[in-house]
Amino acid sequence: MKILVTGGLGFIGSHTVVELQNEGFEVIIIDDLSNANENVLDGIEHITGKRPLFEKIDLRDKHKVQDFFRIYADVEGVIHFAASKAVGESVNKPLLYYENNIVTLVYLLQELSKKEKSNFIFSSSCTVYGQADRMPITEEAPVKGALSPYGNTKQIGEEVIRDTCQIQASMNAISLRYFNPVGAHPSAAIGELPLGVPQNLVPFIVQTAMGQRDELSVFGDDYDTPDGTCVRDYIHVVDLAKAHVVALQRLLQKKNKENYEVFNIGTGTGSSVLEVIHSFEQVSGQKLNYKIVDRRPGDVTIAYADTTKANEVLGWKARSTLDEAIKSAWDWQCTIKN
Ligand code: WQD
Repeated sequence: MKILVTGGLGFIGSHTVVELQNEGFEVIIIDDLSNANENVLDGIEHITGKRPLFEKIDLRDKHKVQDFFRIYADVEGVIHFAASKAVGESVNKPLLYYENNIVTLVYLLQELSKKEKSNFIFSSSCTVYGQADRMPITEEAPVKGALSPYGNTKQIGEEVIRDTCQIQASMNAISLRYFNPVGAHPSAAIGELPLGVPQNLVPFIVQTAMGQRDELSVFGDDYDTPDGTCVRDYIHVVDLAKAHVVALQRLLQKKNKENYEVFNIGTGTGSSVLEVIHSFEQVSGQKLNYKIVDRRPGDVTIAYADTTKANEVLGWKARSTLDEAIKSAWDWQCTIKN
């Protein structure tokens, strides 16, 4: 059974391709290589023994998208990761984000709407909740005004899919609202490859420990949390990847109750920045060089998932601990260093 994975050479996409192949799916990857390297295909093949098909396509090219679905008319499902995802960059380049994250989604859905039946998994984000009023965060928590164009493209993306499913009974879709993906495949053959200076915490930690960065800046320790630093729900990228396969199988096996569903994908546990640092020092045996600096604008104080719906309805649960996730990130960093 053929599955299209857009952005399949990226961090979460490549890990999901591995899990799809492990389940026996045939995978076709579309990636524009704007934030990924084609040699990720080697890493995927190293792990699974199968090299996915790969098409270098910019999804902003409507005709290329139409041609793809004409050639690959037997694609049974689509997992859509391809998007720009740097929160800070989105503030400076909003139109790039609205074009690359929304227009491309419309082109994909236009092609899927022509099929007798389509199954679509959307990469969404807990960022749609903003600072939720209550913890843990359930799927019923209100979507709040986005703090960045990036976050807004996730909110708009969900609405575009919801509105399409409302009038298109042949379309079945699930939005997965990720919390904070971290770590790498235990083989260390694939992992996170942030371009330039990492914006996210864990890549910055492992690059600091490797000597690529002088020291980690902890953005504020005066928040209303147990140790003053922000709390997030850090989920191992392999657990997250497996959630995509379970969600896709739910649609393929027609187990979905509605033709549009939303699930939070997290561990259900919150960890502070200092707890992540201590976890890193524990698993690596290395002291981390860090300093406390001012808050980063736009950061929410606390966000972690209520995973009841994913556990009981979707039938998926995160398995890895924070230490295991951080250890896998460190192992990956040590591998690419060599
Ligand atoms: C986590 C915590 C920072 C870097 C973002 C996006 C979200 C998703 C994941 C795409 C915060 C602190 C960070 C540093 C620090 N991305 N931090 N020093 O902001 O929760 O989520 O990435 O889908 O949509 O919003 O993740 O890793 O950037 O930050 O102190 O050098 O670590 O303040 O408290 P975030 P993050």
